[in-house]
Amino acid sequence: MSDFNSLPSDFTWGVATAAYQIEGAVAEDGRLPSIWDTFSHTPGKIEADENGDVACDHYHRWREDIALMKQLGVDAYRFSVAWPRVVPGGDGPVNEKGLAFYDQLVDGLLEAGITPYPTLYHWDLPQALQDRGGWPERETAEHFAAYAAVVAGRLGDRVENWTTLNEPLCSAWIGHLEGRMAPGLTDITAAVRASYHLHLGHGLATQAIRAAVPGARVGIVNNLSPCEPATDREEDRAAAVRADGHTNRWWLDPIHGRGYPQDMVDLYGVDLPVRAGDLETIAAPLDWLGLNYYFRNVVAADPGGPLPHAKQVYLPGARHTAMDWEVNADGLENMLVRLADDYGPQQIYITENGSAYPDVLRADGSIDDTERVRYLEEHLAACARAVRRGVPLSGYFAWSLLDNFEWAYGYDKRFGLVHVDYPTQRRTIKGSGYRYADIVRSSRGRGRGRRAA
Ligand code: FCB
Repeated sequence: MSDFNSLPSDFTWGVATAAYQIEGAVAEDGRLPSIWDTFSHTPGKIEADENGDVACDHYHRWREDIALMKQLGVDAYRFSVAWPRVVPGGDGPVNEKGLAFYDQLVDGLLEAGITPYPTLYHWDLPQALQDRGGWPERETAEHFAAYAAVVAGRLGDRVENWTTLNEPLCSAWIGHLEGRMAPGLTDITAAVRASYHLHLGHGLATQAIRAAVPGARVGIVNNLSPCEPATDREEDRAAAVRADGHTNRWWLDPIHGRGYPQDMVDLYGVDLPVRAGDLETIAAPLDWLGLNYYFRNVVAADPGGPLPHAKQVYLPGARHTAMDWEVNADGLENMLVRLADDYGPQQIYITENGSAYPDVLRADGSIDDTERVRYLEEHLAACARAVRRGVPLSGYFAWSLLDNFEWAYGYDKRFGLVHVDYPTQRRTIKGSGYRYADIVRSSRGRGRGRRAA
Protein backbone atom coordinates (compact mmCIF):
# COMPACT_ATOMS: atom_id res chain seq x y z
CA MET A 1 0.00 0.00 0.00
CA SER A 2 2.88 2.34 -0.64
CA ASP A 3 1.03 4.29 -3.27
CA PHE A 4 0.10 7.18 -1.03
CA ASN A 5 3.59 8.22 -2.05
CA SER A 6 2.06 10.16 -4.88
CA LEU A 7 0.07 12.42 -2.56
CA PRO A 8 1.48 15.95 -2.79
CA SER A 9 4.14 16.90 -0.25
CA ASP A 10 2.08 19.92 0.84
CA PHE A 11 -0.96 17.70 1.51
CA THR A 12 -2.78 18.64 4.74
CA TRP A 13 -2.97 15.78 7.23
CA GLY A 14 -5.59 16.20 9.91
CA VAL A 15 -7.94 14.65 12.41
CA ALA A 16 -11.58 15.58 13.04
CA THR A 17 -14.08 15.70 15.91
CA ALA A 18 -17.37 17.45 16.70
CA ALA A 19 -18.44 19.42 19.77
CA TYR A 20 -21.33 17.36 21.12
CA GLN A 21 -19.46 14.11 20.51
CA ILE A 22 -16.45 15.00 22.66
CA GLU A 23 -16.87 18.09 24.83
CA GLY A 24 -19.20 17.07 27.66
CA ALA A 25 -19.65 19.92 30.19
CA VAL A 26 -23.11 20.50 28.79
CA ALA A 27 -24.30 22.77 31.57
CA GLU A 28 -21.03 24.59 32.20
CA ASP A 29 -20.07 28.23 31.69
CA GLY A 30 -23.42 29.29 30.33
CA ARG A 31 -24.04 26.58 27.73
CA LEU A 32 -27.74 25.86 27.25
CA PRO A 33 -29.32 22.71 25.78
CA SER A 34 -29.20 21.91 22.10
CA ILE A 35 -31.55 19.61 20.21
CA TRP A 36 -29.03 16.82 20.84
CA ASP A 37 -29.29 17.22 24.63
CA THR A 38 -33.05 16.97 24.33
CA PHE A 39 -32.96 14.04 21.92
CA SER A 40 -30.36 12.04 23.82
CA HIS A 41 -32.27 12.51 27.06
CA THR A 42 -35.46 11.19 25.47
CA PRO A 43 -35.73 7.52 26.46
CA GLY A 44 -35.36 5.08 23.60
CA LYS A 45 -33.66 7.41 21.13
CA ILE A 46 -30.04 6.42 21.80
CA GLU A 47 -28.49 2.99 22.17
CA ALA A 48 -28.45 2.15 25.90
CA ASP A 49 -29.99 5.60 26.53
CA GLU A 50 -26.54 7.19 26.55
CA ASN A 51 -25.92 10.92 26.08
CA GLY A 52 -23.18 13.51 25.57
CA ASP A 53 -23.27 14.95 29.11
CA VAL A 54 -19.65 13.92 29.76
CA ALA A 55 -18.51 12.36 26.46
CA CYS A 56 -14.69 12.62 26.27
CA ASP A 57 -14.63 15.50 28.75
CA HIS A 58 -12.69 17.41 26.12
CA TYR A 59 -13.97 20.71 27.54
CA HIS A 60 -11.60 20.10 30.45
CA ARG A 61 -8.98 17.92 28.74
CA TRP A 62 -8.38 19.88 25.56
CA ARG A 63 -4.73 20.47 26.42
CA GLU A 64 -4.13 16.74 26.67
CA ASP A 65 -5.98 16.25 23.39
CA ILE A 66 -3.80 18.82 21.62
CA ALA A 67 -0.76 16.98 22.99
CA LEU A 68 -2.12 13.77 21.43
CA MET A 69 -2.47 15.50 18.07
CA LYS A 70 1.08 16.71 18.40
CA GLN A 71 2.19 13.18 19.09
CA LEU A 72 0.38 11.99 15.96
CA GLY A 73 2.18 14.74 14.06
CA VAL A 74 -0.88 16.09 12.25
CA ASP A 75 -0.96 19.49 10.55
CA ALA A 76 -4.58 20.35 11.12
CA TYR A 77 -7.54 19.84 13.43
CA ARG A 78 -11.15 19.98 12.31
CA PHE A 79 -13.46 20.61 15.28
CA SER A 80 -16.87 22.18 15.65
CA VAL A 81 -17.96 25.21 17.61
CA ALA A 82 -21.05 24.64 19.75
CA TRP A 83 -23.67 27.26 18.92
CA PRO A 84 -25.38 26.58 22.31
CA ARG A 85 -22.16 27.66 24.07
CA VAL A 86 -21.60 30.84 22.08
CA VAL A 87 -25.16 32.09 21.61
CA PRO A 88 -27.00 29.83 24.06
CA GLY A 89 -30.46 31.15 23.24
CA GLY A 90 -29.89 30.74 19.50
CA ASP A 91 -30.19 34.47 18.98
CA GLY A 92 -29.61 37.32 21.39
CA PRO A 93 -26.83 37.58 23.97
CA VAL A 94 -23.36 36.24 23.25
CA ASN A 95 -21.84 34.11 26.01
CA GLU A 96 -18.29 35.33 26.57
CA LYS A 97 -17.24 32.16 28.39
CA GLY A 98 -18.34 30.02 25.48
CA LEU A 99 -16.34 32.09 23.02
CA ALA A 100 -13.35 32.07 25.37
CA PHE A 101 -13.22 28.27 25.25
CA TYR A 102 -12.69 28.23 21.47
CA ASP A 103 -10.36 31.21 21.73
CA GLN A 104 -7.99 29.33 24.01
CA LEU A 105 -8.37 26.14 21.97
CA VAL A 106 -7.27 28.00 18.83
CA ASP A 107 -4.32 29.54 20.66
CA GLY A 108 -3.32 26.12 22.00
CA LEU A 109 -3.49 24.59 18.53
CA LEU A 110 -1.42 27.35 16.98
CA GLU A 111 1.19 27.04 19.71
CA ALA A 112 1.39 23.33 18.88
CA GLY A 113 1.83 24.12 15.18
CA ILE A 114 -1.62 22.73 14.27
CA THR A 115 -3.93 24.65 11.93
CA PRO A 116 -7.51 25.04 13.19
CA TYR A 117 -10.40 24.17 10.83
CA PRO A 118 -13.56 25.09 12.75
CA THR A 119 -17.02 23.98 11.62
CA LEU A 120 -19.80 26.28 12.73
CA TYR A 121 -22.62 23.75 12.76
CA HIS A 122 -22.25 20.07 13.52
CA TRP A 123 -25.94 19.42 14.37
CA ASP A 124 -26.26 21.06 17.80
CA LEU A 125 -29.02 23.60 17.19
CA PRO A 126 -29.88 25.59 20.33
CA GLN A 127 -33.07 24.06 21.71
CA ALA A 128 -34.55 27.56 22.04
CA LEU A 129 -34.58 27.84 18.24
CA GLN A 130 -36.10 24.38 17.86
CA ASP A 131 -38.87 25.55 20.16
CA ARG A 132 -39.55 28.29 17.60
CA GLY A 133 -39.67 25.81 14.71
CA GLY A 134 -35.98 25.04 14.04
CA TRP A 135 -34.54 24.61 10.54
CA PRO A 136 -37.93 24.38 8.81
CA GLU A 137 -38.24 28.10 9.66
CA ARG A 138 -36.39 30.83 7.76
CA GLU A 139 -35.38 32.78 10.87
CA THR A 140 -33.08 29.90 11.89
CA ALA A 141 -30.94 30.54 8.80
CA GLU A 142 -30.69 34.22 9.71
CA HIS A 143 -29.74 33.47 13.32
CA PHE A 144 -27.12 31.03 12.10
CA ALA A 145 -25.47 33.76 10.03
CA ALA A 146 -25.50 36.14 13.01
CA TYR A 147 -23.84 33.49 15.19
CA ALA A 148 -21.30 32.79 12.42
CA ALA A 149 -20.42 36.49 12.37
CA VAL A 150 -19.79 36.43 16.13
CA VAL A 151 -17.43 33.45 15.94
CA ALA A 152 -15.65 34.72 12.84
CA GLY A 153 -15.23 38.13 14.44
CA ARG A 154 -13.59 36.59 17.48
CA LEU A 155 -11.37 33.93 15.89
CA GLY A 156 -10.84 35.41 12.43
CA ASP A 157 -7.50 37.02 13.30
CA ARG A 158 -6.08 33.50 13.72
CA VAL A 159 -8.36 31.22 11.72
CA GLU A 160 -8.28 31.19 7.94
CA ASN A 161 -10.27 28.03 7.07
CA TRP A 162 -13.98 28.01 7.88
CA THR A 163 -16.71 25.42 7.42
CA THR A 164 -20.33 26.49 7.59
CA LEU A 165 -22.25 23.21 7.88
CA ASN A 166 -21.40 19.60 8.51
CA GLU A 167 -23.50 17.12 6.56
CA PRO A 168 -26.77 19.01 6.09
CA LEU A 169 -28.14 15.73 4.67
CA CYS A 170 -28.10 14.23 8.17
CA SER A 171 -29.72 17.29 9.75
CA ALA A 172 -32.49 17.37 7.18
CA TRP A 173 -33.09 13.78 6.10
CA ILE A 174 -32.09 11.79 9.19
CA GLY A 175 -33.27 14.46 11.65
CA HIS A 176 -36.55 15.49 10.01
CA LEU A 177 -37.56 12.59 7.73
CA GLU A 178 -36.18 9.38 9.24
CA GLY A 179 -36.35 10.57 12.85
CA ARG A 180 -33.15 8.76 13.87
CA MET A 181 -31.34 11.97 14.80
CA ALA A 182 -32.34 15.19 16.54
CA PRO A 183 -34.90 16.68 16.39
CA GLY A 184 -36.41 13.27 15.59
CA LEU A 185 -39.19 14.24 13.14
CA THR A 186 -40.63 12.09 10.35
CA ASP A 187 -42.16 14.68 8.06
CA ILE A 188 -41.11 15.27 4.45
CA THR A 189 -42.40 18.85 4.43
CA ALA A 190 -40.32 19.72 7.49
CA ALA A 191 -37.34 17.86 6.00
CA VAL A 192 -37.41 19.67 2.66
CA ARG A 193 -37.90 23.04 4.33
CA ALA A 194 -35.05 22.23 6.73
CA SER A 195 -32.74 21.34 3.83
CA TYR A 196 -33.58 24.63 2.13
CA HIS A 197 -32.97 26.76 5.21
CA LEU A 198 -29.76 24.89 5.99
CA HIS A 199 -28.55 25.86 2.52
CA LEU A 200 -29.74 29.42 2.98
CA GLY A 201 -28.00 29.55 6.36
CA HIS A 202 -24.83 28.27 4.69
CA GLY A 203 -24.99 31.03 2.07
CA LEU A 204 -25.73 33.78 4.58
CA ALA A 205 -23.01 32.52 6.93
CA THR A 206 -20.52 32.45 4.05
CA GLN A 207 -21.25 36.13 3.43
CA ALA A 208 -20.96 36.88 7.15
CA ILE A 209 -17.61 35.11 7.47
CA ARG A 210 -16.20 36.87 4.42
CA ALA A 211 -17.36 40.23 5.78
CA ALA A 212 -15.70 39.56 9.15
CA VAL A 213 -12.51 37.89 7.92
CA PRO A 214 -10.85 39.24 4.80
CA GLY A 215 -8.99 36.36 3.17
CA ALA A 216 -11.13 33.67 4.85
CA ARG A 217 -11.25 30.37 2.98
CA VAL A 218 -14.79 29.08 3.27
CA GLY A 219 -16.16 25.63 2.51
CA ILE A 220 -19.09 23.32 3.27
CA VAL A 221 -18.90 19.66 4.27
CA ASN A 222 -21.22 17.10 2.67
CA ASN A 223 -21.44 13.37 3.20
CA LEU A 224 -21.78 11.78 -0.20
CA SER A 225 -21.97 8.20 -1.45
CA PRO A 226 -21.97 6.77 -4.94
CA CYS A 227 -25.36 5.09 -5.49
CA GLU A 228 -25.27 2.04 -7.71
CA PRO A 229 -28.07 -0.26 -8.86
CA ALA A 230 -28.03 -3.76 -7.39
CA THR A 231 -28.99 -5.23 -10.78
CA ASP A 232 -29.30 -4.04 -14.32
CA ARG A 233 -33.09 -4.07 -14.13
CA GLU A 234 -34.72 -0.83 -15.23
CA GLU A 235 -36.45 -0.30 -11.86
CA ASP A 236 -33.19 -0.72 -9.92
CA ARG A 237 -31.40 1.70 -12.21
CA ALA A 238 -34.19 4.22 -11.66
CA ALA A 239 -33.91 3.61 -7.90
CA ALA A 240 -30.19 4.39 -8.08
CA VAL A 241 -30.94 7.68 -9.83
CA ARG A 242 -33.41 8.59 -7.06
CA ALA A 243 -30.96 7.56 -4.35
CA ASP A 244 -28.29 9.65 -6.04
CA GLY A 245 -30.64 12.63 -6.15
CA HIS A 246 -31.50 12.22 -2.48
CA THR A 247 -27.93 11.62 -1.31
CA ASN A 248 -25.78 13.67 -3.66
CA ARG A 249 -27.42 15.99 -6.18
CA TRP A 250 -29.83 17.63 -3.70
CA TRP A 251 -26.79 18.70 -1.68
CA LEU A 252 -24.44 19.64 -4.50
CA ASP A 253 -26.54 21.27 -7.22
CA PRO A 254 -27.96 24.25 -5.27
CA ILE A 255 -24.61 25.30 -3.79
CA HIS A 256 -23.17 25.27 -7.31
CA GLY A 257 -25.86 27.56 -8.70
CA ARG A 258 -27.92 24.85 -10.40
CA GLY A 259 -30.99 25.08 -8.20
CA TYR A 260 -32.69 22.00 -6.79
CA PRO A 261 -32.90 18.90 -9.03
CA GLN A 262 -36.37 18.87 -10.59
CA ASP A 263 -36.79 15.08 -10.45
CA MET A 264 -36.37 15.24 -6.67
CA VAL A 265 -38.60 18.30 -6.21
CA ASP A 266 -41.29 16.32 -8.06
CA LEU A 267 -40.67 13.19 -5.99
CA TYR A 268 -40.85 15.03 -2.64
CA GLY A 269 -43.87 17.06 -3.72
CA VAL A 270 -43.07 19.90 -1.31
CA ASP A 271 -42.92 23.56 -2.35
CA LEU A 272 -39.56 25.16 -1.64
CA PRO A 273 -39.92 28.46 0.24
CA VAL A 274 -37.73 30.34 -2.26
CA ARG A 275 -37.56 34.13 -2.11
CA ALA A 276 -35.94 36.41 -4.67
CA GLY A 277 -32.15 36.25 -4.44
CA ASP A 278 -32.03 33.15 -2.24
CA LEU A 279 -30.65 30.80 -4.88
CA GLU A 280 -27.78 33.22 -5.53
CA THR A 281 -27.08 33.45 -1.79
CA ILE A 282 -27.06 29.65 -1.52
CA ALA A 283 -24.59 29.49 -4.41
CA ALA A 284 -22.06 31.86 -2.81
CA PRO A 285 -18.63 31.04 -4.30
CA LEU A 286 -16.61 28.66 -2.12
CA ASP A 287 -12.90 28.13 -1.72
CA TRP A 288 -13.15 24.41 -1.18
CA LEU A 289 -15.54 21.49 -0.86
CA GLY A 290 -15.41 19.09 2.07
CA LEU A 291 -16.23 15.44 1.44
CA ASN A 292 -17.11 13.04 4.25
CA TYR A 293 -16.87 9.59 2.79
CA TYR A 294 -17.70 6.36 4.57
CA PHE A 295 -19.43 3.90 2.20
CA ARG A 296 -21.04 3.17 -1.12
CA ASN A 297 -24.80 2.63 -1.56
CA VAL A 298 -25.96 -0.34 -3.59
CA VAL A 299 -29.72 -0.02 -3.99
CA ALA A 300 -32.78 -1.80 -5.37
CA ALA A 301 -36.23 -0.40 -6.12
CA ASP A 302 -38.51 -0.27 -3.07
CA PRO A 303 -41.83 1.04 -4.39
CA GLY A 304 -43.73 0.82 -1.10
CA GLY A 305 -40.78 1.86 1.08
CA PRO A 306 -39.80 5.26 2.44
CA LEU A 307 -38.45 8.08 0.27
CA PRO A 308 -36.61 7.87 -2.07
CA HIS A 309 -38.12 4.37 -2.60
CA ALA A 310 -34.70 2.73 -2.89
CA LYS A 311 -33.46 0.18 -0.40
CA GLN A 312 -29.94 -0.75 0.53
CA VAL A 313 -28.77 -4.15 -0.67
CA TYR A 314 -25.94 -6.07 1.01
CA LEU A 315 -23.69 -7.65 -1.56
CA PRO A 316 -22.43 -11.12 -0.68
CA GLY A 317 -18.73 -11.15 0.06
CA ALA A 318 -18.50 -7.42 0.80
CA ARG A 319 -16.67 -6.30 3.97
CA HIS A 320 -18.60 -4.23 6.50
CA THR A 321 -17.57 -2.16 9.51
CA ALA A 322 -19.27 -2.35 12.90
CA MET A 323 -21.73 0.26 11.58
CA ASP A 324 -22.74 -2.25 8.88
CA TRP A 325 -21.31 0.16 6.30
CA GLU A 326 -19.74 -1.45 3.24
CA VAL A 327 -15.98 -0.95 2.94
CA ASN A 328 -15.46 0.33 -0.58
CA ALA A 329 -12.47 2.57 -1.21
CA ASP A 330 -13.11 2.69 -4.97
CA GLY A 331 -16.28 4.59 -4.10
CA LEU A 332 -14.12 7.34 -2.63
CA GLU A 333 -11.98 7.58 -5.75
CA ASN A 334 -15.09 7.66 -7.95
CA MET A 335 -16.79 10.31 -5.84
CA LEU A 336 -13.70 12.53 -5.91
CA VAL A 337 -13.41 12.25 -9.68
CA ARG A 338 -17.12 12.99 -10.10
CA LEU A 339 -16.92 16.08 -7.88
CA ALA A 340 -13.98 17.39 -9.88
CA ASP A 341 -15.56 16.61 -13.27
CA ASP A 342 -19.13 17.70 -12.57
CA TYR A 343 -18.70 20.61 -10.16
CA GLY A 344 -15.15 21.90 -10.71
CA PRO A 345 -14.28 22.89 -7.11
CA GLN A 346 -11.06 24.84 -6.60
CA GLN A 347 -10.00 22.43 -3.90
CA ILE A 348 -11.40 19.38 -2.13
CA TYR A 349 -10.63 18.11 1.35
CA ILE A 350 -11.64 14.75 2.73
CA THR A 351 -13.07 16.24 5.91
CA GLU A 352 -14.00 12.85 7.40
CA ASN A 353 -13.21 9.23 6.65
CA GLY A 354 -12.82 6.40 9.08
CA SER A 355 -14.23 3.18 10.46
CA ALA A 356 -15.73 1.67 13.60
CA TYR A 357 -14.59 -1.73 14.76
CA PRO A 358 -14.88 -3.44 18.14
CA ASP A 359 -11.43 -2.70 19.55
CA VAL A 360 -9.75 -4.92 22.08
CA LEU A 361 -7.59 -3.34 24.73
CA ARG A 362 -4.86 -5.92 25.38
CA ALA A 363 -3.39 -6.78 28.75
CA ASP A 364 -0.27 -4.76 27.89
CA GLY A 365 -2.49 -1.73 27.21
CA SER A 366 -2.09 -1.73 23.42
CA ILE A 367 -4.79 -1.84 20.73
CA ASP A 368 -3.95 -3.69 17.54
CA ASP A 369 -6.76 -2.47 15.27
CA THR A 370 -5.59 -4.04 12.02
CA GLU A 371 -8.96 -3.69 10.27
CA ARG A 372 -8.99 0.06 10.89
CA VAL A 373 -5.40 0.29 9.60
CA ARG A 374 -6.44 -1.54 6.45
CA TYR A 375 -9.44 0.74 5.97
CA LEU A 376 -7.20 3.79 6.38
CA GLU A 377 -4.57 2.56 3.95
CA GLU A 378 -7.10 1.53 1.32
CA HIS A 379 -8.83 4.90 1.44
CA LEU A 380 -5.58 6.85 1.32
CA ALA A 381 -4.57 4.80 -1.71
CA ALA A 382 -7.91 5.78 -3.28
CA CYS A 383 -7.08 9.45 -2.57
CA ALA A 384 -3.72 9.03 -4.27
CA ARG A 385 -5.35 7.47 -7.34
CA ALA A 386 -7.81 10.36 -7.53
CA VAL A 387 -4.95 12.87 -7.33
CA ARG A 388 -3.19 11.06 -10.17
CA ARG A 389 -6.41 11.43 -12.18
CA GLY A 390 -6.24 15.20 -11.71
CA VAL A 391 -8.54 15.76 -8.69
CA PRO A 392 -7.51 18.88 -6.71
CA LEU A 393 -7.48 17.07 -3.37
CA SER A 394 -5.61 19.09 -0.76
CA GLY A 395 -5.97 17.17 2.47
CA TYR A 396 -7.40 14.34 4.54
CA PHE A 397 -8.92 14.48 8.03
CA ALA A 398 -9.25 11.14 9.77
CA TRP A 399 -12.50 10.55 11.64
CA SER A 400 -11.82 10.58 14.48
CA LEU A 401 -9.10 11.75 16.80
CA LEU A 402 -10.91 10.06 19.71
CA ASP A 403 -13.52 7.41 20.29
CA ASN A 404 -16.61 9.46 21.10
CA PHE A 405 -20.39 9.74 21.40
CA GLU A 406 -21.53 8.28 18.08
CA TRP A 407 -24.96 9.95 18.04
CA ALA A 408 -27.84 7.42 18.10
CA TYR A 409 -25.33 4.58 18.53
CA GLY A 410 -24.00 5.96 21.80
CA TYR A 411 -20.49 5.01 22.91
CA ASP A 412 -20.48 1.48 21.54
CA LYS A 413 -19.16 2.37 18.09
CA ARG A 414 -15.51 3.42 18.26
CA PHE A 415 -14.02 5.43 15.38
CA GLY A 416 -10.97 6.87 17.16
CA LEU A 417 -7.31 6.70 16.25
CA VAL A 418 -7.09 7.09 20.02
CA HIS A 419 -8.99 4.81 22.39
CA VAL A 420 -10.94 6.39 25.24
CA ASP A 421 -11.64 4.45 28.40
CA TYR A 422 -14.77 6.33 29.43
CA PRO A 423 -14.82 5.58 33.18
CA THR A 424 -11.27 6.89 33.63
CA GLN A 425 -11.07 9.11 30.51
CA ARG A 426 -7.70 7.54 29.81
CA ARG A 427 -6.56 8.00 26.21
CA THR A 428 -4.47 5.31 24.44
CA ILE A 429 -3.16 5.67 20.90
CA LYS A 430 -4.30 2.69 18.81
CA GLY A 431 -2.24 0.87 16.19
CA SER A 432 -4.09 2.92 13.56
CA GLY A 433 -2.97 6.13 15.29
CA TYR A 434 0.66 5.04 15.13
CA ARG A 435 0.24 3.98 11.50
CA TYR A 436 -1.31 7.35 10.63
CA ALA A 437 1.58 9.13 12.35
CA ASP A 438 4.04 7.08 10.23
CA ILE A 439 2.23 7.93 7.01
CA VAL A 440 2.19 11.63 7.89
CA ARG A 441 5.87 11.58 8.83
CA SER A 442 6.99 9.81 5.69
CA SER A 443 4.90 12.14 3.53
CA ARG A 444 6.75 15.10 5.08
CA GLY A 445 10.05 13.31 4.60
CA ARG A 446 9.35 13.01 0.90
CA GLY A 447 8.48 16.69 0.79
CA ARG A 448 11.80 17.66 2.39
CA GLY A 449 13.66 15.40 -0.02
CA ARG A 450 12.04 16.96 -3.03
CA ARG A 451 12.57 20.51 -1.85
CA ALA A 452 16.25 19.83 -1.16
CA ALA A 453 16.79 18.24 -4.58
C1 FCB B 1 -20.56 11.45 10.18
C2 FCB B 1 -20.61 12.57 11.22
C3 FCB B 1 -19.64 12.40 12.36
C4 FCB B 1 -19.51 10.97 12.78
C5 FCB B 1 -19.26 10.07 11.59
C6 FCB B 1 -19.06 8.62 11.94
O1 FCB B 1 -21.80 11.34 9.57
O2 FCB B 1 -20.34 13.81 10.61
O3 FCB B 1 -20.05 13.26 13.38
O4 FCB B 1 -20.59 10.59 13.53
O5 FCB B 1 -20.30 10.18 10.70
